Amino acid sequence: MITRSALRRGFFGLGLLASLPLSAPAFAQALAPAPEAPTGRTFKPVGTATKDMVAAANPLAAQAGREILAAGGSAVDAAVAVQLVLNLVEPQSSGIGGGTFMVFWDGKTMATLDGRETAPAAAKPERFLGPDGKPMKFYDAVVGGRSVGVPGTLRLLEAAHRNWGKLSWPQVIEPAARLAEEGFAISPRLNGLLSQEKYLQNDPVARAYFYEADGKPKAVGTVLRNPALAKTLRTIADKGADAFYTGEIAQDIVTTVTGHATNPGDMTLEDLKGYKVQERDAVCGNYRTYRICGMGPPSSGQVAVQQIMGILETQDMASLKPGPDAVHWIAEAGRLAYADRALFLADPAFVNVPVKGLTDPGYLKSRAALVDPNKSMGKAKPGDPPFQKTFLWGASDSIEFGTSHISIVDRNGNAVSMTTTIEDGFGSRLMTKSGFLLNNELTDFSFATTEDDKPIANRVEAGKRPRSSMAPTIVLDGSGKLYAVVGSPGGSLIINYVAKTLVGILDWKLDPQVAADLPNVGSRNGPTELEAGTEAEGWKAALEAKGHEIKLIDQNSGIHAIVVTPAGLVGGADSRREGVAIGN
Ligand code: DON
Repeated sequence: MITRSALRRGFFGLGLLASLPLSAPAFAQALAPAPEAPTGRTFKPVGTATKDMVAAANPLAAQAGREILAAGGSAVDAAVAVQLVLNLVEPQSSGIGGGTFMVFWDGKTMATLDGRETAPAAAKPERFLGPDGKPMKFYDAVVGGRSVGVPGTLRLLEAAHRNWGKLSWPQVIEPAARLAEEGFAISPRLNGLLSQEKYLQNDPVARAYFYEADGKPKAVGTVLRNPALAKTLRTIADKGADAFYTGEIAQDIVTTVTGHATNPGDMTLEDLKGYKVQERDAVCGNYRTYRICGMGPPSSGQVAVQQIMGILETQDMASLKPGPDAVHWIAEAGRLAYADRALFLADPAFVNVPVKGLTDPGYLKSRAALVDPNKSMGKAKPGDPPFQKTFLWGASDSIEFGTSHISIVDRNGNAVSMTTTIEDGFGSRLMTKSGFLLNNELTDFSFATTEDDKPIANRVEAGKRPRSSMAPTIVLDGSGKLYAVVGSPGGSLIINYVAKTLVGILDWKLDPQVAADLPNVGSRNGPTELEAGTEAEGWKAALEAKGHEIKLIDQNSGIHAIVVTPAGLVGGADSRREGVAIGN
């Protein structure tokens, strides 16, 4: 890795950097070295590599991916290794107890795999209603077996590896299995989240693993070994994902879910055995000279990103630069996109989602025409896209810490953009004896079942996949070559994080590290949200003058991005978290 100033001095010569808007005050602040930064934020150095690169949420996980790439592995081989190490070292965010979306580019085809969790066969729309018929309190629903969906991550990894892997299955699992045996040092972020955590200690397996006998979280630097996970991974290495979806591990999952004392779930061995990863059509659209692609429903992520970008395309964003005028457009585009998302987006096996209409360039122009350059529209209404065959209603949003994004480019130019989650931080707070946490993904469904007497598109139904906001994204350049790999955790804010980063990379020509570190901004069709503790706070007055109701909130994105340049690969790992972008 090299520093930003080294990058400015030499790596690119004057090429890319000459086009950076260094004179824009906001950007100059974003580049300011950490000690002088008025906001107290610190920024990571830009990652560079010539052959291949991994950007992921933890250095040990990224290093495992880098070694797999160095050994001749493909981007997918590396993704398996990175995910399984993340399961160990960033257990609060993702793992084989959760779900995943993967976008894969092999130089010719954009494939998208849906490894989203599914609701058990016994699930009913009223799952998250209390005895009074009203939606349960969020954590009353989350903690315990009720929120656990049938995990999809391992089936997805297996399918991706079967299609696009080069190294053997045991070989890509080995780094995580070894590290689980040898142990890893607890990171400050994991320790910090354990310190804030209210529910995890009630689970006896998790308590014994994460906490000291006196109830304090194990300290930063404590070497944590997970022999149960090592055994699970070695069994999976030997027998394939079937060993997880049937047999002892499956029984352990069912027992953990159904055995919760106060909030049991209803998952069965049949549910696990029947889980299927779905290959879906990528959602793609043009943005200026680029082509942006990602995961379609049941994720709302890429549809909403496409809508925001399609609206921004009507503006000369390059000349706006980071600042209040750009935020006005990003926020107004966000309002319109989130209004459509709330109404139309859900599992396409249950609801006829008009993806084509929602991303239609003509429709997006008509939506852009609703934006007044000088005044916020306040609350946006959903539109009436073409090709629409549904009229359903939706709601419910939150910000969580249970997701991770992995970006990888291998030496053959294959790329993986993969967002992976157990939903809330530490998921359902249930840890199996097999060494991994279980998701609470089912609380991504709408708790309410109807609105104005109409069924909500994203209500719970048996076998359905809850709506997601995850937006793993791959960008091609004008000649159809790989240009960028981008994604982030962050619940429903993911859409805004990804859109901001795309504007930073594609319009403002920022390197991905700087684009990731720009203040997060946008609107989810409520107030306009500016990231607290950043230079965006200084944009508040100008936005209020345009009628925006401003809310300063923590926006703890975890953007991991890689850009392909003529000089090599340039990577960014969000300075707000512990990740790195490294390569060979
Ligand atoms: O699928 C979704 O949209 C959410 N379950 C993602 C959760 C998340 O990003 C938590 N983040 N840090």
